[in-house]
Amino acid sequence: MRVGQGGTGPGPHTPDGSAVELYELTHAHGEDELINAAIDPGSSILELGCGTGRITRPLVAFGHHVVAVDESAEMIARVTGTETIRATIGDLRLERRFDVVLMMSFLINVADDAERLRLLRTCAHHVRPGGAVFVQQEIPGTRHAPATVEREHSTMVISEVEDLPDGVQAATLTHTVDGRSWSQRILTKNLSEVALEAQLAEAGLRRTGYLTPDKMWVRAQSV
Ligand SMILES: C[S@@+](CC[C@H](N)C(=O)[O-])C[C@H]1O[C@@H](n2cnc3c(N)ncnc32)[C@H](O)[C@@H]1O
Repeated sequence: MRVGQGGTGPGPHTPDGSAVELYELTHAHGEDELINAAIDPGSSILELGCGTGRITRPLVAFGHHVVAVDESAEMIARVTGTETIRATIGDLRLERRFDVVLMMSFLINVADDAERLRLLRTCAHHVRPGGAVFVQQEIPGTRHAPATVEREHSTMVISEVEDLPDGVQAATLTHTVDGRSWSQRILTKNLSEVALEAQLAEAGLRRTGYLTPDKMWVRAQSV
């Protein structure tokens, strides 16, 4: 288990506290369409932190060639129909380069600055010249507790939000699907535009735009 993170509820959990059975039950909420609309048909995609393949599957169905990476054996065992690699993102160094590197699910908001740099260096290493890196980030100031987010088949309750030194925030997320509940204690750090740009630059990347007006989806390319 990573520092400051943990998960409870039925079934196995990953080192970052994500529940494998929860992600198996969770559907895409438009992330697949957003990415598909932003990239060329038949793109090669390296997806970092793919989980059970919630977004991998629709991207493959759109006709893209996805290599799906996750450090959790239980998660990656559920990804079918495409190449998978079990690896820790920061250590991944393939010989291949990709049209698109995708790192979603707020992995960039890891509280540890050195770990964030490792993640971004892996993105930079694997994107081809002129290709695109897409990163999904938290929007600063948007997580308040108590709050409930209702979706068609699930509910997420945010509780125990704690502001810690150095811009780090802890929170508990409790997801309920079909009467089964999973809680995850997360530790995140939101990045100002200036901080994000500096971290991207340190990794050899530069921001080229956002996919959404709320700036949750960042597009970058190698410098
Ligand atoms: C919250 S889940 C989301 C999965 C998927 N992206 C989705 O949206 O359905 C995060 C996933 O990232 C993986 N992960 C987190 N940090 C990782 C790291 N440093 N290296 C490899 N996998 C990581 C976890 O094992 C987990 O499967």
